[in-house]
Formats: sequence, structure tokens, C-alpha cells
Amino acid sequence: MSTEQPGLGMTYDGGPGTSALHVLGPVEQIPLGEGRAFAVGGQQVAVFRLRDGSLRALSAVCPHRGGPLADGTIDREVVICPLHQHAFDLGTGCSTTGAGPLTRYQVTSDEERNIVLRTGQV
Ligand code: FES
Repeated sequence: MSTEQPGLGMTYDGGPGTSALHVLGPVEQIPLGEGRAFAVGGQQVAVFRLRDGSLRALSAVCPHRGGPLADGTIDREVVICPLHQHAFDLGTGCSTTGAGPLTRYQVTSDEERNIVLRTGQV
């Protein structure tokens, strides 16, 4: 089970209508092959750490019936919702099983290996 992590205070906001960067703490807080949910700027975001170490980020609430996607099973391409097994592409947020799409976020790690999430317009 994942626990929701509050967004850690570091946010760089470019102002209204622009994107913002959020530093969410060390990548190691997410075990390889798992996800964690974060509250970021009033949004619930699931950050996934793939087995190759790369990161993906999608909205954390399943559009089907609100399932916790950070608790889903992932492989290199999709996350599967734990409630009714809808699948979502980790790169695009689009469902491969007919559910509605998820919001996709840009996510990287910085030189100190902190998760850096971008919200808003790019
Ligand atoms: S709530 Fe996610 S598949 Fe039903």
C-alpha cells in the first residue's frame, strides 16, 4: 500500500498561466517497480519509479471509480488500477482498456536525486 506524501515545500511557480516545478523529495522513497501518491498544488499525483529507474507521473485518481492508481501494478508501459483492472499507458495517460484518460505530468530527478514534478502549462 502506498501512503500519500504531502508535497515537500519546494515549489517554483512562474505565475498565473505558467508551469510550476515541485520538488517532492528523494527518488529512493519510491521502491523500484512501485508508485507513490503526492498532493501537489491541490492535485493528487501518482509518481511511478520503473524498474529501470526512470520516473513517470499521472493523476492519482482513476477516472473509472476513483481507484488509487499509485497502488496499481506497473510494468514498463502501463499501470493497472487495483480496483477493476483498467490499464493506463504510463507515457500518455491514455487507457488501453476503454476508461477515460489521465492527466500526464512531466517528471525528472535533479542532480541530488530528488523528484522534480512539473504542473501547469508547459
Ligand atoms: S476504479 Fe480504477 S478500474 Fe475501476
